[in-house]
Amino acid sequence: MRVLGIETSCDETSAAVLSGRGDSATLESLVILSQDVHRVFGGVVPEIASRAHLTAIVPVVERALADAGITREALGGVAVTNGPGLVGALLVGVSFAKALAYVLGIPVIGVHHMEGHLFATALEDRDAVPPFTALLVSGGHTLLLDVEAWGCYRVLGRTRDDAAGEAFDQVAKLLDLPYPGGPHVERLAREAGSGTRDAGRGSVNNLRFARPMLRRDQQPGDPDYYDFSFSGLKTAVLNVVKSSRDTTTLPASRFPLPVIARAFQDALVETLVEKTARAVEQFGRDRVVLGGGVAGNRTLVEAMETRLMPLGARVFAPSTRLASDNAAMIARAGLFRLERGERSGFDLNAFASLPLPGLAG
Ligand code: KG4
Ligand code: ZN
Repeated sequence: MRVLGIETSCDETSAAVLSGRGDSATLESLVILSQDVHRVFGGVVPEIASRAHLTAIVPVVERALADAGITREALGGVAVTNGPGLVGALLVGVSFAKALAYVLGIPVIGVHHMEGHLFATALEDRDAVPPFTALLVSGGHTLLLDVEAWGCYRVLGRTRDDAAGEAFDQVAKLLDLPYPGGPHVERLAREAGSGTRDAGRGSVNNLRFARPMLRRDQQPGDPDYYDFSFSGLKTAVLNVVKSSRDTTTLPASRFPLPVIARAFQDALVETLVEKTARAVEQFGRDRVVLGGGVAGNRTLVEAMETRLMPLGARVFAPSTRLASDNAAMIARAGLFRLERGERSGFDLNAFASLPLPGLAG
């Protein structure tokens, strides 16, 4: 089976061709066109995103087919993200996918964007397959899952407010860094050094943010045990940035920006790592799969490895290219659904929010 994947849920227009079966499928091509225009506005403008997808979708798909060395007649199915995401943006991909499938007389399957992220790492590492604990950290979602098998998911925790990527983006804004902020915050945090040098208030040791929704006395079954919350952390960062820029405050309450970035990242990473470790221990998984744009953060991946290896769990993180939004993961999740005989009708629609399929009770 040769599947064309299409992803247009946010600000990337992407198409990919995947061939073969299940976990041994091969990625033949992947084209990702990132809409740089949103940098001007410091965030994604939905109307502009939709229009940019309209302009890009045909050449991006044609490029993916050409890179795979095939014509569209060689396709056996089309997989497209139909939610969650920006409805106008999603509609471009969904309408295109339905029209193409109709013309070619092949099936079309709608894919849940976050299920796509779950499959991304398996395209690069054949061992990143269920059963595993999964942490999906993107700009719109933060989800901790137990994955018994493909298509069989138990949501353990999610964010109560901001997503992890959103927190990175907002903190980047506070620090006057460009959008999307995650990689910039990570880079700035690295400038703070190891924290062992004695640099007075410039030392990372002197600024510590509370770990949000992480307490030792939490028990499994307590809703806070696995859930996340990042909006309080963002406010705490805002307050420190304000006092650090205010020359009338005491020197002790002023910190260099790299130290603030580092302290923020440390708090967020430790929360993600500790909750993931809890899931690994409760479900006895020996694999942890990371996904979503924030999974491209090296500090997070290294902290996961350090914490989880002693528990006997291997950490699988996607490359930066497959961590962020791409159509390869959509093609892979779509292939899984098509192989199970699932099909979407030509009434397939786009949804801003959509429940993850395959949820265990
Ligand atoms: O998965 P993704 O590409 O899009 C969504 O589905 O939202 O995730 C994008 C998010 C952005 O918030 C971006 O700032 C964040 O991932 N991100 C990072 C890094 N690279 C991307 N966050 C922290 N560190 C990074 N290196
Ligand atoms: Zn995403």
